[in-house]
Amino acid sequence: MPSATTHAVVGFNIVGGHPDSRPTIDKPLVNSGSLGNFEQNDITPVIGTEFYGLQIRDLLQWKDQAVKDLAATVSQRGVVFLRDQDVTPTEMKDFIIRLSTLAGCPTTSGLHVHPLTEEGSELGDQISVISSEKQKKGGGLTHQLSDVSRFASTGWHSDITFEKVPSDYAMLKIHTLPKTGGDTLWASGYEIYDRLSDPMKRFLEGLTATHDANFFHGEAERLGNPLRKAIRGSPLNQGTDLKTVHPVIRTNPVTGWKSVYVNKGFTKRINGVSKDESDMLLAYIFNLVTQNHDAQVRFKWKKNDCAIWDNRSTLHCATYDYSGARAGDRVASLGEAPYLDVDSKSRREALGE
Ligand code: SIN
Repeated sequence: MPSATTHAVVGFNIVGGHPDSRPTIDKPLVNSGSLGNFEQNDITPVIGTEFYGLQIRDLLQWKDQAVKDLAATVSQRGVVFLRDQDVTPTEMKDFIIRLSTLAGCPTTSGLHVHPLTEEGSELGDQISVISSEKQKKGGGLTHQLSDVSRFASTGWHSDITFEKVPSDYAMLKIHTLPKTGGDTLWASGYEIYDRLSDPMKRFLEGLTATHDANFFHGEAERLGNPLRKAIRGSPLNQGTDLKTVHPVIRTNPVTGWKSVYVNKGFTKRINGVSKDESDMLLAYIFNLVTQNHDAQVRFKWKKNDCAIWDNRSTLHCATYDYSGARAGDRVASLGEAPYLDVDSKSRREALGE
């Protein structure tokens, strides 16, 4: 069993991370307010902001500072929504890589290639097609053909945390919708951290967890696609073992805030404690995520709406309550190897709440 310090690089109060995958910024981004001309609305106090009248396609032509300001907003608010976007999958890729780069991703990080993406996929390797038709074949986190829980909350996850270098940002555009249903929920990892008592915060800060997506091997077989073994967006992400270890609490370099970083989809074990203790701790943290609807935001999609979120400090969950077709395109960039800066602050602390 891995120990509490497995894969941890310890020094200067930084725990975890990897020397080949460090952020290129050494302090949080400051929002200059350049997007202030766009109407915007915070959907809940802790998570989710909607922008009105902003087209991602236009942002591609804008100065770096505007893109950095959007990155700072996404990282602070967890998820940003933009209605009716006229953006192609190629533009989505161009935009997310620019956002990630300007927000300080390591030079070795690019766009993720999901291990289940078909070779020669029509939209390119770096676009994940989100599709209810694929889901019916048993795909996704709820693995519909396997004997797993059918609770709607089973699907809460952060993207690709089984990779050594997981995602910083992701963008999803939904272009095909059922008549009703198919909402997506996001929860704030910052807020979940803030709801822990001080002794529990300190305890969890000393621990790592194992994230495991080796169940994708069975899914690849069912879909008839070979699993993608070559580099998946970072030289640290390759091979067939879809399993890694990350700190339980990580610092988001863009905000400098601490967030809980375990999720129902992929986190199987807290290391360095007994199996029973691990099960109890994970169940407690997952309950904090699923039972606190005041740490969540729920988005009702309309055709061509987009969401951009920070995977380091949010979790999300799709809702499978519809029977018609639902489909969209998702692109995910890679950030840094997760680390904890023990001296960093919580969101509430930083905002003086
Ligand atoms: C995802 O899990 O990234 C997709 C969410 C959704 O389909 O609503």
